[in-house]
Amino acid sequence: MNFRVREVQETGSTNADVLTAALAGEPEGLVVSAGTQTAGRGRLGRTWQSPPGGGLWFSVLLRPDVPPARLGWLPLLAGVTLAHGVRDLAGVDAVLKWPNDLLVQGRKCAGILAEATGTGAVALGIGLNTRLTEEQLPPPPPSGLPPTSLALAGASDVDNNALLTALLDRLASAYADWRAAGGDPEESGLRSAYLGVCATIGLDVRAILPGGAELRGRATTVDNEGRLVVDGRAIAAGDIVHLRTDAQAM
Ligand code: BTN
Repeated sequence: MNFRVREVQETGSTNADVLTAALAGEPEGLVVSAGTQTAGRGRLGRTWQSPPGGGLWFSVLLRPDVPPARLGWLPLLAGVTLAHGVRDLAGVDAVLKWPNDLLVQGRKCAGILAEATGTGAVALGIGLNTRLTEEQLPPPPPSGLPPTSLALAGASDVDNNALLTALLDRLASAYADWRAAGGDPEESGLRSAYLGVCATIGLDVRAILPGGAELRGRATTVDNEGRLVVDGRAIAAGDIVHLRTDAQAM
C-alpha cells in the first residue's frame, strides 16, 4: 500500500482528522501529519503534548480486513515498527512496555493510540518525541513514566521528514505481511518480533483495573488477541488503568 501523506501545520488531533476522513469514505492509506496539535489525544483519556517541531505527530487510516479478534495486534505491530525504526534510523536503543509505550533509557519516548470508527476503519496515531528539549517535556502523568525524546537520548540531527518517510515504509511492509497472514501473529512473525522488543514479558507486574481492582503476577506472554497474559489470565489494553512493573528501569 502506498501512503498518501497530508501535512498540516496545525490541527486539533490528527487521529480526529483521520477518523473524520474515514467516516466520509476516505480509502485506507491516508496519513495526516501535523507540525503541532492543539488537542493531541493520548490513551486512557490523557492529552498528548505536541509542540511545533518537537516530534512526529501523525495518524494513518487503515481498514484492516482481518478477523476482529486479531485487531488487538495492530497497535502492537506499530510498536514493533517504531522500536526497530528508532534503533535503525536514529541509533537509539528502544524497548516496548506492553502494549506499546516506546521506552528509551526507562523513559517514554513515543506512544500509540488506535481508535476505531466502528465501521471497519482504524486511526493509528503515533506520537514520537524527536527533538523535544528538557524544558519542552511534559510533566509525567500521575504514576506514569517520565518522558524523553530521541535528541535527549543522544540521537543527533534528527530529521523529522526523513524519519516519517522511513517509518511509513516500514509500517507499510509490516502491515502488508500481517494482513497477508490474515492477522495471525504467528504466521506473520509478528508475535516473535513483538516478544523480542517487549520488556514487560518475564516481569512481575501490578495491573490496576478500572474500579481500582488490582491484579499482581508474572507477565508471561501475549495471546492471539494481543492481550497480556498475567499468571494465565489475559488482560486487554483497554482493561488496564496502570501497569507497574517491579523493574521501573525497564
Ligand atoms: C499514548 O497515550 O501513549 C498515546 C499517544 C498518541 C499520540 C498521537 S500524536 C498523533 C495522534 N493524534 C493524536 O491525537 N494522538 C496520536
